[in-house]
Amino acid sequence: MSDNRTLIIQLKDFAGQQVTLSGWVYQARSSGKVQFIILRDGSGLCQCVVEKGKIPDDVFDKLEHLGQESSLTITGLVRAEPRSVGGFELAATNAQVIHATTDYPITPKEHGVDFLLKHRHLHLRSQRQWCIGKIRHTVIDAIRRFFNDNGFTLVDTPILMSAAGEEEQSLFEVDYFGSTLFLTQTGQLHLECAAAAFGKVYCFGPTFRAEKSKTRRHLTEFWMVEPEVAFIDLPGLLELAENFVSNIVSRVLQDNKPQLETLGADIAGLENIKPPFYRLTYTQAVEILRGEKTVKFMAEQLTQLSRQKETIEKRITELDTEQAGQIKQWKRDKNAAELIALRSDLDEINIKIENNPKHAKLAAEFQWGKDLGGSDETIISTMHDKPVFVTHYPREAKAFYMKTDRDNVKVVQNFDMLAPKGFGEIIGGSVREDDHDMLLKRIDEMGLKRENYDWYLDLRKYGSVPHGGFGLGVERTVAWLTGESHIRQCIPFPRMMDKVYI
Ligand code: 4AD
Ligand code: MG
Repeated sequence: MSDNRTLIIQLKDFAGQQVTLSGWVYQARSSGKVQFIILRDGSGLCQCVVEKGKIPDDVFDKLEHLGQESSLTITGLVRAEPRSVGGFELAATNAQVIHATTDYPITPKEHGVDFLLKHRHLHLRSQRQWCIGKIRHTVIDAIRRFFNDNGFTLVDTPILMSAAGEEEQSLFEVDYFGSTLFLTQTGQLHLECAAAAFGKVYCFGPTFRAEKSKTRRHLTEFWMVEPEVAFIDLPGLLELAENFVSNIVSRVLQDNKPQLETLGADIAGLENIKPPFYRLTYTQAVEILRGEKTVKFMAEQLTQLSRQKETIEKRITELDTEQAGQIKQWKRDKNAAELIALRSDLDEINIKIENNPKHAKLAAEFQWGKDLGGSDETIISTMHDKPVFVTHYPREAKAFYMKTDRDNVKVVQNFDMLAPKGFGEIIGGSVREDDHDMLLKRIDEMGLKRENYDWYLDLRKYGSVPHGGFGLGVERTVAWLTGESHIRQCIPFPRMMDKVYI
């Protein structure tokens, strides 16, 4: 079977030739004499035209009764057809059913998020999940290539940890032969050791946070890439981060345009993502949040949301009327799919409308010293068309390892990168405290156990140098690039605080 199999993605090289495709029925419709089977083979979609008389009669009959997601091989002539999905069609001359499926549970009709997550083992085959998966693949490949091509050495840091690398409240405990270890929250502390050995390093792996957050930005298991560099300062880190993110975006634009189009992603917006990104200090961000600009901005947002709501409601009424009448099955299914999308958009808009006054109030009353909240990040990031660096946060709001700014000891030399148009933080990073006594003081102030950090403090005893790094969350990055509103759609098998499905 594997010998003469052609992939759908290769069809452009086979126009006018006979090929055999292997795959699954994605959609099928029949008009009696001719059947249209949209085949899915993992590399793409292809419409196969099955005409009575051009294929053995018994095969024609078998195909007519195939359910969605049946598997088969199908042979035929490749012809260019610009109106067809993928631009090519197969005029079938023969086929072999491998496994006939009936009652595939995910139909083109309406399914809630919960149903689809419960059926994730099957839902991964959907076009949306496929497009996101392809883009995630490119993002990860671009990440590795960027660091490998720029003199970084990959260092694998452990997953089982003896102490916290970020806030202690979000540690997952593991019973380790009677003693307690934790799942890693960050590879950073071990990576700092490696930076003193190799200069420029990165780690990339699964990361765990027992955060009691059910937001669209939080998973309990996510993938994070972390570079760490010896002899670097804050401007150097920002430059590295903006080159890195621009590189990921341009790779996705280069490799995944069709997928971005299918997902309805903001391609023009992504084409604009080039250095330099915007730079704000935390103090400037707070001034914006408390100022007139935000008041006006939030009011405009509300007007815009209300307009969008009206348009969507009008379209829903139109479709509901159509559905109540006599229409063809394929049209009914198409409408049903549009209704699902519209209702989910409407839910989101309603939440935004409800939250708008609350978020405006939180912003207006923001007190210098607190960490920026999710809604504050959303406001700042919605105001910008490119990513924004927010730097120099208050020391009290941030992790023990961040370097105190020597010119203003109230702040640290850190940054968050906020993705534009409301997506919020995708990177957190900092210069590290490299003075032994200052670091020890921070460990004490935060109530952490000194003995857990002996080895980490040693780095400040033996050839301490200015150094720093950052962490980028893969799922948040994919959500931003694809325009997915919830990051649970951006990892194949999501783990969330309130639910783990399969
Ligand atoms: O800002 P964070 O917590 O930074 C660190 O862990 C540093 N130690 C990184 C470093 O300097 N080496 O996390 C970094 C990024 C966030 O910006 C976000 O993209 C992602 O990791 N992230 C999450 N993604 C999904 N779900 C969660 N619960 C996440 N928590 C952080
Ligand atoms: Mg952070």
